[in-house]
Amino acid sequence: MQYRRLGSTGLQLSALSFGAWVTFGGQIGRDEARNLIAAAWDHGVNFFDNAEVYAQGRAEQVMGDVIADLRLPRDGYCVSSKVFFGSVAEPRPTQRGLSRKHVVDACEGALRRLRVDYLDLYYCHRPDPDTPIEETVRAMDLLVRQGKVLYWGTSEWSAAQLEEAHAIARAIGAFAPSMEQPQYNLLHRERVEREYAALCAAGMGTTIWSPLASGLLTGKYSEGIGADARLGQPGREWLRDLVIGEPGEQRVERARRVSAIAAELGESPAQLAIAWCLRNPQVSSVILGASRVSQLLENLGALELVERYDASVWQRLEAVASPAG
Ligand SMILES: NC(=O)c1ccc[n+]([C@@H]2O[C@H](COP(=O)([O-])OP(=O)(O)OC[C@H]3O[C@@H](n4cnc5c(N)ncnc54)[C@H](OP(=O)(O)O)[C@@H]3O)[C@@H](O)[C@H]2O)c1
Repeated sequence: MQYRRLGSTGLQLSALSFGAWVTFGGQIGRDEARNLIAAAWDHGVNFFDNAEVYAQGRAEQVMGDVIADLRLPRDGYCVSSKVFFGSVAEPRPTQRGLSRKHVVDACEGALRRLRVDYLDLYYCHRPDPDTPIEETVRAMDLLVRQGKVLYWGTSEWSAAQLEEAHAIARAIGAFAPSMEQPQYNLLHRERVEREYAALCAAGMGTTIWSPLASGLLTGKYSEGIGADARLGQPGREWLRDLVIGEPGEQRVERARRVSAIAAELGESPAQLAIAWCLRNPQVSSVILGASRVSQLLENLGALELVERYDASVWQRLEAVASPAG
């Protein structure tokens, strides 16, 4: 495993980390979740990502349970949560968003479910138009000072919102956000590469999500959607629409072209797509998702590909995957 600093902080995260979205508390059972965490840990993964909304808190419960069961040393791993969407089916106004109340309540809930005394990383899962950014900055600062959170950050905030949060933190002497959690993959590049460029240069870390575009970049959806795959799960029609996209976007065709280059090189498309994310020095950690251990083990092999090819190969890959980008 390779370890990278989270932006300008001293926290060293594994370049490949592991997240619980869709899988833990949902698509997979506790035993498979345990096997996945154990395999990730054995391969040097030290960051496990979660959120209050994943399976309405059950993903955190399962993760807390298996980490305790595996007796991982608390100082050897990092665990995260995210606040915004709530952890109940139909959240009341105080059970969602980024008000001081919900930020504090959600942190307490995550600590309880994950069975830890502090969260290493705590994210604002989306911007909240109904809460002043200053209120959220002060709430996060409070949690850091109380020792309940070590590093706080955001997910899918605009650069303008992040600059505002930094300006407020500077003005009031509060802890500023250290990291962003944006989507980043061969089909979705703009925000990380352009919008966040100045913020990353100034020290913001990024822990990026969906490096395989929910599995699309493995090529598994080229021949249709299997019932055992993420997009074939009942209730995931909204995700299928997002991942497959509009007909004009040709996302399946672009993924197919990535697979063709991978075949030509004799590589796995998944490893190649993940290695492409790892090549970007703005990326602190690539959060992997997997519904079985064999996928995780394959994806962890991506690190070996990073130095294997020169710029011409990566440029070819970009050209077929993001023709406009
Ligand atoms: N901040 C946010 O808003 C946000 C949003 C989304 C995710 N995240 C975080 O990022 C993590 C990773 O995102 P993601 O799960 O979407 O990552 P991803 O790598 O794009 O997709 C992972 C899924 O692709 C399939 N897959 C992975 N490796 C494969 C392989 N080698 N061969 C075939 N299929 C493979 C599996 O699904 P199937 O086997 O079920 O098909 C797996 O669950 C999440 O767990 C979560 O922690 C954050």
